[in-house]
Amino acid sequence: MAKKLKVGVIGAGMIANHAHIPGYLSIPDECEIKWLCDIKPDVLKEVGTKYSISNLTADYRDLLNDPEIDAVSVATPNLEHMQMTVDALKAGKHVLCEKPLSMNADQSKAMCRAAKDSGKILQVGLQYRFCGPGLFMKEYIDKGHMGDVYYGRAQALRRRGVPGWGVFTNKEKQGGGPLIDIGVHILDFTLFLMGYPKPVSASGKTWDILGKNPNLTNFMGDFDRDKFTVEDMAVGFIRFEDGQVVTLESSFMANIEQEFFKTTLMGTKSGAEVCPGFSNDPIVIFSERDKQVFNERPVNIPDIKSSHVKEVQEFVATIQEGGKSKVPGEHGLILNAIFDALYKSTETGVEEKIDLSY
Ligand SMILES: NC(=O)c1ccc[n+]([C@@H]2O[C@H](COP(=O)([O-])OP(=O)(O)OC[C@H]3O[C@@H](n4cnc5c(N)ncnc54)[C@H](O)[C@@H]3O)[C@@H](O)[C@H]2O)c1
Repeated sequence: MAKKLKVGVIGAGMIANHAHIPGYLSIPDECEIKWLCDIKPDVLKEVGTKYSISNLTADYRDLLNDPEIDAVSVATPNLEHMQMTVDALKAGKHVLCEKPLSMNADQSKAMCRAAKDSGKILQVGLQYRFCGPGLFMKEYIDKGHMGDVYYGRAQALRRRGVPGWGVFTNKEKQGGGPLIDIGVHILDFTLFLMGYPKPVSASGKTWDILGKNPNLTNFMGDFDRDKFTVEDMAVGFIRFEDGQVVTLESSFMANIEQEFFKTTLMGTKSGAEVCPGFSNDPIVIFSERDKQVFNERPVNIPDIKSSHVKEVQEFVATIQEGGKSKVPGEHGLILNAIFDALYKSTETGVEEKIDLSY
């Protein structure tokens, strides 16, 4: 039987409470949470008490100095991801770092280098790969039923959905707006299904008009319009090494009727629309047989109650089994490098090259 792991969670906010802590607690025979860290004393005390975590600290280095700790979750704002992850890897800990991997490609490269040098697992918190529709579609595509998928459309569009908590509207701490916050999920999901092709260039455009308008409503809490320094909407056109293209649309605010969290794939044998989030009808496959065309809806999609919990379980299993990360740092780097190119292209007005070397 594999060794029971001791883990620490850095950041005790929303995602720690919804993903990391429940994920570790769901497999008590495999791991135990020994440390919890947060710089807000009240949050630390409340969450530590709720989950009976005995070691509480405001300094994440306390976890890293504990030789018993095997792995840590980094569940802090994006600005903190790089240093904490690099320090943890250097201290010999495996890391599950929340998405986006970091603020930009340079930071993500440093994290990938640290993972390579340490030989430890670096997993990125991109849980939609582990949802039922994701597992179903991955197997369907890997079996060749879609042929070559040459085009993907990734959409994470909210009408009035600026997160009213945390630092999601602060470019300095977050790195960007919907692109880096929710675009990261749907782009990762799309690239995952397409076999993670290597991007070579991207062009794009961002706007920040609606987010700064104090007269508009918001459905996800309140936020200070004067301190809104991220984009409210972004679009991108991304080219890949073998000729595939992905378009990306992502918004916190946009004047649209229907909100989307959806991937559309077009392949040489069939196409598909896949909604990895909360949907009763998450997959439609478009096919043709004997000159008859079909819209098919699979019914035996795996029933994964929480992809958040599943990603943590997969992280622990990967450590125990000694395998490769199921969501490697390199994928987080690819996403950051694409976002860098899209933000730069907004300024230059032309397509930007993508360099993934580290
Ligand atoms: N995977 C997902 O679906 C998903 C969803 C939401 C957020 N996230 C990611 O999770 C991360 C955190 O987001 P959140 O919504 O939980 O934010 P949050 O503000 O609710 O929680 C972050 C916590 O980190 C703490 N913190 C900040 N700096 C710290 C430091 N130096 N040391 C220790 N603690 C520190 C804060 O006090 C806060 O309690 C972000 O990277 C975000 O992108 C992922």
